[in-house]
Amino acid sequence: MIVLGVETSCDETSAAVLDGSGDDVRTRSLVILSQDIHRVFGGVVPELASREHLRAIVPVVDAALNEARAELSDVHAIAVTNAPGLVGALLVGVSYAKALAFASGKRVIGVHHMEGHLFATALEHRDAIPPFTALLVSGGHTLLLDVAAWGEYRLLGATRDDAAGEAFDKVAKLLGLPYPGGPHIERLAREGDPANPQFRFARPMLHGGQQPGDADYYDVSFSGLKTAVLHAVRGSRDLESDKAHIARAFQDALIETLVAKTIRAATVFKRRRIVLGGGVACNGALVHAMADQAKSLGASVYAPSPRLATDNAAMIARAGLFHLERGDRSTFDLSAFASIPLPGLIA
Ligand code: KG4
Ligand code: ZN
Repeated sequence: MIVLGVETSCDETSAAVLDGSGDDVRTRSLVILSQDIHRVFGGVVPELASREHLRAIVPVVDAALNEARAELSDVHAIAVTNAPGLVGALLVGVSYAKALAFASGKRVIGVHHMEGHLFATALEHRDAIPPFTALLVSGGHTLLLDVAAWGEYRLLGATRDDAAGEAFDKVAKLLGLPYPGGPHIERLAREGDPANPQFRFARPMLHGGQQPGDADYYDVSFSGLKTAVLHAVRGSRDLESDKAHIARAFQDALIETLVAKTIRAATVFKRRRIVLGGGVACNGALVHAMADQAKSLGASVYAPSPRLATDNAAMIARAGLFHLERGDRSTFDLSAFASIPLPGLIA
């Protein structure tokens, strides 16, 4: 089956063409246009995001078809992100995909953006398939899931406040670094001393006495960590020379927390595979720490390359393909939603 994927949930306009069936899928093309305009504002401005998507959607889809050497008539179905995200931004992709499907007589399927992130790594690693423990860490979400099979997700933990990427972005702002802050913090943290006693932040919601039945066993929370960074910044007499140490201490605390919670999940559910996804999965220190801790379980860690970790339409087409093969399809009253639960959640 050939699926055209469309993604416009935030500040990337993306289209991709996928070809295959089951877990044997080839990405024939992937085009991602990142909106630059938000840098000026230090964060995504929803109204501007919608306008940029409107401008970009047609040429981006055309480019994806060209790159795949495909005609629209070769495409069997169109998969589009319809939730969660910025409603105005999502609506551009959803309206476009529906119109294209209607005009060309194709099936259309709405895809949950976070389910897309779950499938992203499998596009590059043949072994990143269920069963696995999944940690999805993006700018808007932090989810820890047990994935027994595609379409069968047990939500174990989530953030109680800020998402992991959001914490990176806010801390970057406090340190005077550009948006999005994740890559800048990672770079700066490499120059920081991990043993600097002046800057050591508590690991949020992580202590030895926690048991699997406890509400905070898998959940995370990063707003306290962000406040700790704020105090460290305000208390610094020479921020220029302390900056790298603060970035390092912040990143170490966040990573240790995420890794510990993920290893707990893999241990309890006896999973031998850990799959990472979302923009924060670009962080080399996170992937390295996870792989290191997974060794004792005999588990392998799979992380997508940056292009597939961040928002892209290939992962949407891949999740869409799974649903289409199961016989799912959306009707033309498919709409966009800022927030809906992940499909396939089991108790
Ligand atoms: O998945 P994504 O592209 O968009 C959302 O769906 O939110 O994730 C974007 C997030 C941003 O918060 C960005 O700062 C973070 O991913 N990020 C990183 C790194 N690269 C991107 N965070 C930490 N380290 C990185 N290297
Ligand atoms: Zn995302």
